[in-house]
Amino acid sequence: MRHLMSPLDFSVEELDKLMDLAGDIEANPEKYAHACEGKKLATLFYEPSTRTRLSHEAAMLNLGGSILGFSSADSSSAAKGESVSDTIRTISCYADICAMRHPKEGAPMVACRHSSIPVINAGDGGHQHPTQTLTDLLTIRSLKGHLDHMTIGLCGDLKFGRTVHSLIHALVRYPGIKFVLISPEELRLPGYIRSDVLDQKQVEYEEVVRLEDALPKLDLLYMTRVQKERFFNEEDYVRMKDFYILDAKKMELAPKDMYVLHPLPRVNEISVEVDKDPRAAYFKQMQYGVYIRMALILTLLGIEV
Ligand code: NCD
Repeated sequence: MRHLMSPLDFSVEELDKLMDLAGDIEANPEKYAHACEGKKLATLFYEPSTRTRLSHEAAMLNLGGSILGFSSADSSSAAKGESVSDTIRTISCYADICAMRHPKEGAPMVACRHSSIPVINAGDGGHQHPTQTLTDLLTIRSLKGHLDHMTIGLCGDLKFGRTVHSLIHALVRYPGIKFVLISPEELRLPGYIRSDVLDQKQVEYEEVVRLEDALPKLDLLYMTRVQKERFFNEEDYVRMKDFYILDAKKMELAPKDMYVLHPLPRVNEISVEVDKDPRAAYFKQMQYGVYIRMALILTLLGIEV
């Protein structure tokens, strides 16, 4: 049985296959409409979500399966003090596959050790968010036609932003990837990712504070929200929250083919005026999230169409 805890759980070849499958699903949705008939997906969300939970659910419904679950810790027995391991034992009796989001780093990993069904990590604290990375890779591959030889700007909360952590892990496996890490000093990428991932793989990167300095040299800009819920005090969040605001004027500094990605939700870091720029790709990105999760569910359940 396979789980998805980190993007590294799939080899580069397996990721290619997964993205090819997502492409076929997009082109021929009717071919997959009954592939998961009789199967159930449980969504166990201990933290807020719009896209991740609903796109997993839409993915299973599109495949002809059914869904069950909870969307907050308050409405589950976690509120009574139940452990993740007891909850997953229960869910294993009710569903065929599950997606779990939890504020604690490593909670989905604990779950998969006690589970008899595949567990998908749908975001664990400030650690990882592998299905967002699958979405991001599919988006980049669809827009650019390849995943190698690119300079990618990662901007915003690089400290707590789990989507950035997972994306870096995944992208360093492709040749010729360079990163420009754009963040305030206090929200720099954690040292363990710089040393264990970037330095270890000898990936070229630079750290800058000003977005304007980075924009002219980027092939792709990945914006992120300052992760309010992971701050220890409100004051620090308020000071940091509007550090970066990408607007039409700043977009003039960027190359004509520099796409802008964002895992969403956006707060103020991208002005709505950027939405009409043809380089704004974040709404397309969320659509790809459904196709790749359909491909993921089929793959983890071992269903071939
Ligand atoms: C991200 C997350 O939950 O980490 N959202 C998402 O799943 N698309 C990004 C965020 O919340 O800022």
